[in-house]
Amino acid sequence: MIFAANFKTYHTRYSTKVYMEELNNYLEGIRCEPIYLFPPATALQEGFGKVVVGAQNAYPIENGAVTGEIGLMQLNEFNIKTILIGHSERRTLLKENQEFIAKKFNFFKEHGFKIIYCIGEPLEVREQGLEKLFEYLFSQFEGIDVCYENLIVAYEPIWAIGTGVSAKVEDIKQVHDGLKKEFNVPLLYGGSVKVENIEAISAIDSVDGVLVGSASLEAKNFATLIKKGLGV
Ligand code: PGA
Repeated sequence: MIFAANFKTYHTRYSTKVYMEELNNYLEGIRCEPIYLFPPATALQEGFGKVVVGAQNAYPIENGAVTGEIGLMQLNEFNIKTILIGHSERRTLLKENQEFIAKKFNFFKEHGFKIIYCIGEPLEVREQGLEKLFEYLFSQFEGIDVCYENLIVAYEPIWAIGTGVSAKVEDIKQVHDGLKKEFNVPLLYGGSVKVENIEAISAIDSVDGVLVGSASLEAKNFATLIKKGLGV
């Protein structure tokens, strides 16, 4: 199981460091894959122990005249080699379109980054039935090299993000099974994953891991979630 924590605009540089220390302590002696942690840009720093730090976002440029953004140069300072691309909050709130997302994907692919690439549908698409749902999800792969060796995909239905209401196990299974038929990539589920539902979600065969927002914010809670997900 892969576990990834998305801090969004929570936490600071200092609290992120304390968090990593705590999480490593809570997970001591537990065998697991690296835990990906995506703190805000100002909290970027080198991960340690089981934690690999990644960027929630960066502009597809080494450095240059792009006010308010960070590029490869700033990520290199902390040896950051992992990035989240295509998160629904960036697609909707920050108006990133598929063309720009694909450009970003290709830039960081060229630099060998591990990319957690997010897809997910709004409620009105989900309500139109499975065919429309998959059509929508597949359109989010336009310009994306699904054979990229460092690709992890995260399926995050928008209506389940931050709402406390996760997709049902049957719904997750149906979408993950459908995606797995098309693409042979590690597939995470995201959207209100929490201590209470991690066992059911991690038991789904086509779920290779989870991308967690709210329930990752406290190290102790996230460690509990990880342990339950691993069944230890
Ligand atoms: P959530 O966020 O766990 O708070 O629903 C998940 C995400 O946006 O990655």
